[in-house]
Amino acid sequence: MAEDLQIAKGSKTEQYAQLLPQIRAIMEGEADATANLANTAAALKEQFGWLWVGFYLVKGEELVVGPFQGPVACTRIRKGRGVCGTSWAEAKTLIVPDVEAFPGHIACSSLSKSEIVVPVWADGRVVGVLDVDSVDPDAFDQEDQRWLEEVVSVLPGVNA
Ligand code: SME
Repeated sequence: MAEDLQIAKGSKTEQYAQLLPQIRAIMEGEADATANLANTAAALKEQFGWLWVGFYLVKGEELVVGPFQGPVACTRIRKGRGVCGTSWAEAKTLIVPDVEAFPGHIACSSLSKSEIVVPVWADGRVVGVLDVDSVDPDAFDQEDQRWLEEVVSVLPGVNA
C-alpha cells in the first residue's frame, strides 16, 4: 500500500493530533514490529524534522539500536548508561533540556542539544525506548511526553 503522510501545520498539539491517527492507520492490520517501528520513526521525523528519531530495543542487559531516522548512531547502550539506558533502568520518560548537563549522556551526534526518551512497554516491562534528539536546546516538554507516550502505547507487534 502506498503511504502518503499529510504534514500538519499549526501548534505542536495540532501537529501531534493530526499525526497520531495517521500513524495508527499506517500500522493497522500490520503485526510486524520492525515495520511498525520503522514507519513510526519515519512519520515522526517527517512531521517534526528532528535530528534523530528512533528506537533502541532491549536485548539482554543492553539496548540495541533498532529502526530509526537520522545520523548513524551508537549501536549498543548498557542498562543505566546515558539517557536511554537511564530511562530503561528507571522505567520512566526522561526530558533532557541540555544534553551537556546530563551526567553520562552518550553523544552519538555533536549536533544534538536536547533529548526526550520514552520507554516502550510490553507485558508490564520495558522492552525498548523511543529516543528523540533535537538540534535545538530545550526542545521537548510535558506535551511531547504525553503525545509520545501515546504513540508508543500502541505499537502492534511490540506491545499490542
Ligand atoms: N544520547 C543517547 C544515545 C542515543 S543517541 O542520541 C541516538 C543517550 O545518552 O542515551
